[in-house]
Amino acid sequence: MRRFIAGDHVDDALACTRDLVADGLAVTIDFLGEDTTNPQQAEATRDEYLKLLDALHAAELTPAAEVSLKLSALGQVFDEKVAYEHARAICAKATEAGTTVTLDAEDHTTTDSTLEMLARLRADFPTTGAVVQSYLRRTEADCRELAVSGSRVRLCKGAYKEPESVAYQRRLDVDKSYVRCLNVLMSGTGYPMIATHDPRLVAIGEDRAKWFDRTPDEFEFQMLYGVRPDEQRRLAELGYTVRVYLPYGTQWYAYMMRRLAERPANLAFFARALRSK
Ligand code: FDA
Repeated sequence: MRRFIAGDHVDDALACTRDLVADGLAVTIDFLGEDTTNPQQAEATRDEYLKLLDALHAAELTPAAEVSLKLSALGQVFDEKVAYEHARAICAKATEAGTTVTLDAEDHTTTDSTLEMLARLRADFPTTGAVVQSYLRRTEADCRELAVSGSRVRLCKGAYKEPESVAYQRRLDVDKSYVRCLNVLMSGTGYPMIATHDPRLVAIGEDRAKWFDRTPDEFEFQMLYGVRPDEQRRLAELGYTVRVYLPYGTQWYAYMMRRLAERPANLAFFARALRSK
């Protein structure tokens, strides 16, 4: 499990972050958990993020490290107002700690609510980042809305099982949509975050940076912890910002299942980790 997840506790996330930062990488930390079903769980998640941000600040790991947040872990499913208030508290703490928050994208039933909350949060915390998924048919239009000054937008392919009515099903269509969205983001005035391990899309990202005259500080690459670590370091050595998405916590099941669905070869790591649990 340690190949993909820092460990169970804040200290594990901190130790891993320190190593990644020493290697010239930036980090976004995710406290694992989603689909929270009661207010106590939502509060506990908020408190964990507040603790994490204090710890990152004290360890002088900000702004190299920021946090990624799933609104469903803050109670979005049962009370949007509560989730919003918790997200606000986390954004305020991140600002105090000198860093940023990015709102993860979850399944398509949450997209409108997440983008609405993002817009409200950005009014007070303008650096709050969005995530968009190229498999969704709506995403190119969302990118047009989001490609504005000050806006940070992570573009990924999307990791949930979605119906054909809302999402492209063929890999090729998802990839083509990714390139269209990338064009919109790279030609706009926001800060694109190119989240993929796909060598072709990484190369297209580098290419678009040249087309649209973006210097390496005007966009970044992002990859998951444990996935193509050599490529992460290669890109960083070329002078690009490469941010590693680093999960920690005990609620790893849903996260690992999505990694397995993407790449059955991850099964070997998963089986080994389960045996050692
Ligand atoms: P894909 O899985 O299609 O693979 C394309 C190619 O990349 C492969 O053919 C191979 O060449 C290479 N590759 C992929 N995995 C590899 C591996 N393990 N080893 C070697 N080569 C490999 N999703 C979501 O729905 N909401 C979110 O908020 C986020 N957030 C997020 C943050 C970050 C930083 C990343 C990188 C990804 C996400 N995702 C996500 C997940 C994302 O949507 C997607 O499911 C995965 O990144 C897998 O898609 P790829 O773009 O890597 O390509």
